[in-house]
Amino acid sequence: MPPSYAKTSDGHTGGKCDSLEAMTDPYAVDADYYDLLHDDFDDDIGLWLSFAGQTDLPVLEVGVGSGRIAVALAAAGHAVTGVDPSAAMLFRAQTRANEEGVELTLINGRPQDLALPPERFGLVLVPLDVFLCCVDGDEQVAMLRALAAAMAFNGTLALDLPGPASHLDPATNGQPLLVYSNQDEAGEHLDVWHVHEDDLGEQTRWLRIAYERTSADGSIRRQIAQHRLRYVHRFELEYLLRLAGFRVADVYGDYDLGPLTNDSARMIVIAKPAKG
Ligand SMILES: C[S@@+](CC[C@H](N)C(=O)[O-])C[C@H]1O[C@@H](n2cnc3c(N)ncnc32)[C@H](O)[C@@H]1O
Repeated sequence: MPPSYAKTSDGHTGGKCDSLEAMTDPYAVDADYYDLLHDDFDDDIGLWLSFAGQTDLPVLEVGVGSGRIAVALAAAGHAVTGVDPSAAMLFRAQTRANEEGVELTLINGRPQDLALPPERFGLVLVPLDVFLCCVDGDEQVAMLRALAAAMAFNGTLALDLPGPASHLDPATNGQPLLVYSNQDEAGEHLDVWHVHEDDLGEQTRWLRIAYERTSADGSIRRQIAQHRLRYVHRFELEYLLRLAGFRVADVYGDYDLGPLTNDSARMIVIAKPAKG
C-alpha cells in the first residue's frame, strides 16, 4: 500500500498530484526539479566514461532521465541512445543536449516495448536505481531480455542499484526526511521531503516526494510525486540475469570499484552475454 502522506515536521500535510500529466507520467513532477537536485551529483560519471571508453560501439542508457549521464558520454565522443518512458524527462535530456551542443538519440518507452536495433550496443547502462522501476519479476526479465537482444557480441551491461547499506528500512516508515532545502535569488524557497513505506516481504518501497515551494509573499505550492520501487538482492539479480541470457562478470560496492560489503551504499553489477 502506498503511504498516506505523513505530516511534515512543520505541520503541513501532503496534497494530490495536480495534473493529468503527473498521473500518466510518474516522473512528470520530478522532471521539473531533477536537475536542481542532482546538480552536484556526478560520482558515477567517471565510471561510466571509463566503461564507455572500452568500446567503439554505441552506448545505450536505460532510464536516461534528464540526460545527466548521456550528455557527458556524448560530449566525450560516444554515440549515445537514451530510452525513457517519461516524456517530461526526455524533454529535459533534449534541452540539455541542445545546450551542450551534443547529439543524443532519445526514444520514449521501456526497452521491452521498443524495437531496439539488434546486437547494436557495446555498453548498456541501467544506472542510478532505474532497475528498481521494474515492478515485478516479469518486467525485470522482459527488460533484461530486450537489453540482451540489443547488445553486441561481447558487449557489457552495467546496473547500479542500492547496496546493502541503503536497503529497505521499515523502521523509518512514515518519517518525513528533508532531502533538499534552498532559497533562490528571487526569494523563493524550495524544500523537498521524502516519505517512504517499506515492505520487506514485498521487497517494495513506496516513495512519496513532496516538492514544496514557498514564495517571497509566503504563498506555498506543493507538488507530490509517488514511486513504487522493487528492491533487488545480489543473488536474485544474478539469477534474473542468467534467465535473460547474461552471466555476471563482476560485482562492486562503489563507483571506485571497491568490494561489495555490509557498508556499501551502492551495488554495481557488470554482466556479459552468456555466449559472449
Ligand atoms: C532516478 S531517474 C535516473 C535518471 C538518469 N539515468 C540519471 O542517472 O540521472 C529514473 C529514470 O528511470 C525512468 N524509468 C521509470 N520506469 C522505467 C522503466 N520501466 N524502464 C526504463 N526507465 C524507467 C524514469 O522515467 C526516470 O527518468
